[in-house]
Amino acid sequence: MNERYAKITGWGKYVPARVLTNADLAKMVDTSDEWITTRTGIKERHIRTEQDTTSSMSVEAAKKALEVAGITAQDLDLIIICTSSPDYLLPSVASQVQHLLGAKCGAFTLVAGCSGWVYGLVTASQFITAGAYNRVLVVGVEIISFALDFTDRTTCVLFGDAAAATIIEVSEEPGGVLSYELGSDGSGAMALYVPDGGVVAPLSQKTLDERRQFIRMDGQEVFKFAVRTLAASLKHTIYQAGLTPDDIDLFIPHQANARIIEAAARQMRVPVEKFFMNLDRYGNTSAASVPLAMVEAIEEGRLKDGDLVAMCAFGAGLTWASAVLRMGSGEVSPAHSLFSVGRARYLARKTSDTVLDTAQSALLPLYAFLYQRRKKK
Ligand SMILES: CC(C)(COP(=O)(O)OP(=O)(O)OC[C@H]1O[C@@H](n2cnc3c(N)ncnc32)[C@H](O)[C@@H]1OP(=O)(O)O)[C@@H](O)C(=O)NCCC(=O)NCCS
Repeated sequence: MNERYAKITGWGKYVPARVLTNADLAKMVDTSDEWITTRTGIKERHIRTEQDTTSSMSVEAAKKALEVAGITAQDLDLIIICTSSPDYLLPSVASQVQHLLGAKCGAFTLVAGCSGWVYGLVTASQFITAGAYNRVLVVGVEIISFALDFTDRTTCVLFGDAAAATIIEVSEEPGGVLSYELGSDGSGAMALYVPDGGVVAPLSQKTLDERRQFIRMDGQEVFKFAVRTLAASLKHTIYQAGLTPDDIDLFIPHQANARIIEAAARQMRVPVEKFFMNLDRYGNTSAASVPLAMVEAIEEGRLKDGDLVAMCAFGAGLTWASAVLRMGSGEVSPAHSLFSVGRARYLARKTSDTVLDTAQSALLPLYAFLYQRRKKK
């Protein structure tokens, strides 16, 4: 039996026409362009118009992805819509998208916060490599503005709405998804959540009075989790593919905050220029963030056939998900065969990373102590 590989063969994006700048937000809450830019790197974000729904945005992005892949909706074997902001609690937005596209296949919604699309990519690749399906549509889409409290400056400045779609197809040529990591730590659930509207606390007058239908976030907790997770999960996934960070052509991190990305780049000893960023224009678009960045990296020529890309998303749950891919039809490099120079380089870098990681963890309590002392002064 021939080997089966799962490759991204189509991509497309849809962003709502309405732009909300930092200056616009400064008229709504007590904030400033200077604060938002220096603390996050975000300058503006897109917010849905009256016409935009989660299903309509998914369909627009999906049509472009189908066109790039050169297939039609009828060719799809499965649709996975990754979102935390569906049109309705029921039915699944994936069935709406399946109907609107005219596809004749199974469809389900996947909820994993901002990690959603990477979870979806990995899920699709499992169906493909197992031989069950040949063509899967995976969409990351979010109208997160519907869950934002535009009187809360600590959250409303961070997020934006967008959709990005990908077609994952079977190939017999090596490449596509090479390795992945899916993670979850539900002990941090309350660090980023929507209090009301679920089974535990159905919508009520109290909900509206106390604005409990909107996202609540412990920014500093999420920040610490993100910095910890981004570098660690990327490294784990890269080594799992038999590669080192130096082999990666482009990193596509979740677009939450430029400071989180810069910290991860430093920890990994990778130039920050190798980390793609478009959060200045979109903010954090949650499940759409990583695929939107990937689509733009391709459009800008930063990601080409044969390139190795490492992506990582993290978010509510808490969850995280990473994947390493060989783009296009390029074959996996033979540089990592057992006795090659590439293999020696791999082992040397892996060992030095392990030593540095251990030293960093050992020094963490000291850093925390010094930080607290500085704050008290
Ligand atoms: C939210 C975040 C940008 C805040 O940055 P920070 O440097 O940690 O700022 P702090 O929370 O320490 O707040 C510092 C001050 O700025 C204030 N502040 C918060 N938001 C503000 C805003 N939009 N404008 C102006 N001031 C703001 C705070 O009230 C606080 O004031 P105080 O010192 O008087 O209490 C940062 O914690 C973050 O990015 N966290 C991760 C969030 C994230 O990525 N979430 C999604 C994950 S998928």
